[in-house]
Amino acid sequence: MPKIEIMPSILAADMGNLEAGIRLCEKSGADQIHVDVMDGVFVPNISMGPAVAAMADRVTDLPLDVHLMLLHPQNHIEAFAKAGSDTILIHIEAECDVEDTLKKIRDLGCRPGITVNPPTPVDSIFQTLEKGLVEEVLIMSVNPGFGGQGYIAGVESKVAEIRRRYPDMLISIDGGIGAETIKPAAAHGANLFVAGTSLFKAPDMGKAVSDLRASAET
Ligand code: DX5
Ligand code: ZN
Repeated sequence: MPKIEIMPSILAADMGNLEAGIRLCEKSGADQIHVDVMDGVFVPNISMGPAVAAMADRVTDLPLDVHLMLLHPQNHIEAFAKAGSDTILIHIEAECDVEDTLKKIRDLGCRPGITVNPPTPVDSIFQTLEKGLVEEVLIMSVNPGFGGQGYIAGVESKVAEIRRRYPDMLISIDGGIGAETIKPAAAHGANLFVAGTSLFKAPDMGKAVSDLRASAET
């Protein structure tokens, strides 16, 4: 089982002082920075683009885990790779040639990842996994588009299925993760945990990061 890592989502940061929010994540012991990119089409909300990823890359040495909630991610991966992304995740539900886009992400020197929405069956990604095109599987535990939503219980069965088939796969879970909801996700085999609201609203982010880590490790 790969190492447990905590990835704050900067979608929940104060947009007026994003740089300070990113530095706070680093100071609080986060392992990676999760960047939520929304196009207003694939999801109803619009968030940040490659310029924000490039800024994040300048202010921190932490790896950037870039989650593209885009209908046409193939048109933007080059820009996000250039911006300093370490992992680029696309959605299996996107309108693109998924295999080809994953290959392009790897060719650009980034780690390719695939994301599965709550209503989408997990077997939809098996073919891409079988072909060795994926290095991170992101299981959504909310319907994407907004931070601060409630964790959808039951998505852990997808995590367990991936973990059973691929003991070494990086498996992340995203949406509504806090000190309690992290437990079932971790128990079923997730090792990367995205958390926005629970970290940025915490009075002490350092303590919130260690509490999450402790909950995931028990
Ligand atoms: C949802 C995003 C998530 C979300 C996490 O569309 O992909 O990363 O912002 O935020 P919380 O932890 O507030 O659910
Ligand atoms: Zn996300």
